[in-house]
Amino acid sequence: MKNKILLVPLKNQSYKIIIGNDIIRNAGTLIKRVIKKPKVFIVTNKLLKKHHLSKLLSSLKKSKIEYKTILINDGEKEKNISTVKKISDELLNSKIDRDDTLIAFGGGVLGDIVGFVASITLRGVDFIQIPTTLLAQVDSSVGGKTGVNTSHGKNLIGTFNQPILVLSDVSLLKTLEKRELKAGYSEIIKYALIMDDDFFSWLDKNFKKIDKVSDSKLIEAVYRSCKNKAHIVKMDVRESGVRAYLNYGHTFGHALEKLNNYRDTIKHGEAVSIGMLMASYMSFLEGHLSDKELDKINDHFRNTSLLTVIPKKLKDKLSTPVIQNTMLSDKKVKNGKINLVLLKKIGKAFVTNKYKQNNLKKVIKDSLIQ
Ligand SMILES: NC(=O)c1ccc[n+]([C@@H]2O[C@H](COP(=O)([O-])OP(=O)(O)OC[C@H]3O[C@@H](n4cnc5c(N)ncnc54)[C@H](O)[C@@H]3O)[C@@H](O)[C@H]2O)c1
Ligand SMILES: [Zn+2]
Repeated sequence: MKNKILLVPLKNQSYKIIIGNDIIRNAGTLIKRVIKKPKVFIVTNKLLKKHHLSKLLSSLKKSKIEYKTILINDGEKEKNISTVKKISDELLNSKIDRDDTLIAFGGGVLGDIVGFVASITLRGVDFIQIPTTLLAQVDSSVGGKTGVNTSHGKNLIGTFNQPILVLSDVSLLKTLEKRELKAGYSEIIKYALIMDDDFFSWLDKNFKKIDKVSDSKLIEAVYRSCKNKAHIVKMDVRESGVRAYLNYGHTFGHALEKLNNYRDTIKHGEAVSIGMLMASYMSFLEGHLSDKELDKINDHFRNTSLLTVIPKKLKDKLSTPVIQNTMLSDKKVKNGKINLVLLKKIGKAFVTNKYKQNNLKKVIKDSLIQ
């Protein structure tokens, strides 16, 4: 099965995303081509060590790349400044120098932390992403946003820092829980909805059972997702314009995550899945999306068994004004107006703050009675 390679051409630095099946066994060769010196620091966690790390290490050994592994604890709660300190202390104790390279070997949490550490250690060292969740392969490893959470909110300290290489190996996803796969799939369907109707039709045909999809189709889906995201990022590296499209479903979703206190009972991808349906419904009520297309979207979400309704436990605690006020507190809200990403049709998003408040209320109210 052939690897797919995507070049992300940015102004100051371009890099490759290589997507394939079992490419981890060839990682040493691919990495050696882009590093300044054959010395890397791999940051990962115990779960990944158990499942996959040995394959990476033996490939590095074969390519005569010296390595040191740094383990951090698993989970979103570890995405904080203490973990940044722990990693940078270990790097400095090990006398890291500017020509060494960091490798993030894990999901989005690890990628975000390591990208941040790489941008501040010795004022910046190179880093490579080896994303191991579907979400990280299609979303967090592309675009160069790094960072950690603070008590003030998620991702509030961070940088824009691009990796020098991304290796996405779909064989690593075999050990991923189905719920994590679906959470990643939400971001995939997002790219289709906002900018690629052809991709939507392809997914509609090929992605009915996410845990049974063939490796070659997974590679294709990761590739097309990264291509779409990279296209948007290229136009808007520092997130001032069209990058907002990537927020499709997120303004609703973030509010749900926040109201659930970011507990694992609703994952980000799950909140976004509900949020995208709310945004689609809003697009319909506002007269942009046809009822036929709205049905198509709803059917797809149901067929792929994405989360489509707010779990009862959370729903019981919510009301329309509570959700609306939480949406207003989103960091992306400017001048008290909620910018919504809506769909003109499948494959065509736009941003607006001109919509009927009553429609917004209806969308929220209906999400609570489903
Ligand atoms: N930088 C960005 O642009 C961007 C975009 C989207 C999301 N994010 C961030 O990404 C994070 C979420 O990432 P995530 O969903 O990958 O979560 P995660 O990194 O917490 O991974 C989810 C779980 O899967 C485990 N895991 C990872 N790979 C595995 C594998 N191959 N087999 C078995 N288990 C595996 C992890 O250890 C973890 O327990 C959030 O912090 C979010 O803010 C960043
Ligand atoms: Zn997201």
